[in-house]
Amino acid sequence: MSKRHPIIAGNWKMNKNVREAQDYAGELLARVGEVTDVDVVVCAPFTALNALKDDLEESVIHIGAQDLFWGSAGAFTGEISAEMLVDIACTYVIVGHSERREILHETDEEIAKKVKAALKAGLTPILCVGENLAHREEGRALAMVRGQVEKDLMDLPPAELKRVVIAYEPLWAIGTGKTASSQDAQDMCSAIRSTLAGIAGAVADEVNILYGGSVKADNIAELMTQPDIDGALVGGASLDAEGFAQLIENAR
Ligand code: G3P
Repeated sequence: MSKRHPIIAGNWKMNKNVREAQDYAGELLARVGEVTDVDVVVCAPFTALNALKDDLEESVIHIGAQDLFWGSAGAFTGEISAEMLVDIACTYVIVGHSERREILHETDEEIAKKVKAALKAGLTPILCVGENLAHREEGRALAMVRGQVEKDLMDLPPAELKRVVIAYEPLWAIGTGKTASSQDAQDMCSAIRSTLAGIAGAVADEVNILYGGSVKADNIAELMTQPDIDGALVGGASLDAEGFAQLIENAR
């Protein structure tokens, strides 16, 4: 029997001001504030986190950030530490999203440091991995994703590794309306679990692996039937509270 608890996480990316975040939190709370069989996470821009803290801290809905820096404090202009995120009631943080890898040239070495910093502060990192279209067409998708998992989780003891959530997000499916077929998503999530087993042994079965890439209310149910898919990281379809609540409902 699976020891894993499903997770549906929304990634707002660079969207919503404070007022919009407050309205959203109220509406989501009203719709899924009693849901405990799925962990619901809202990953908001830094500027909206405080508003979410006011409304969601005492609720079943988890607050997440979209990035962090690996240093604890000091001369790192413009950066936000894991400890600062904990202070503002975050329990999750996205690390290594493909948009940061591509646009901001984040490296696996930096991402590995961010994963460690998140874990050290008690946050759950949602580590994003995934191949681009060229990798897939050239038959290099698996090698690419395995390499990311190995490099980004380097040197983590099994007890720490099992606290990481992995989100498999093929770049060609992000924001394109093109979802990986549930079988393709399952195949990669299963390969990720085997990679984890190679690194850390039996705890691989306890790691939550999410799929991300054009997940919507009408395709989540089928994705959730796959044995190695434990939930989803949702971009566009998480922006409307009512629609996101429906997606969560359909995932249960
Ligand atoms: O992190 C979520 C993501 O990149 C997928 O975005 O809009 O395709 O659901 P979207």
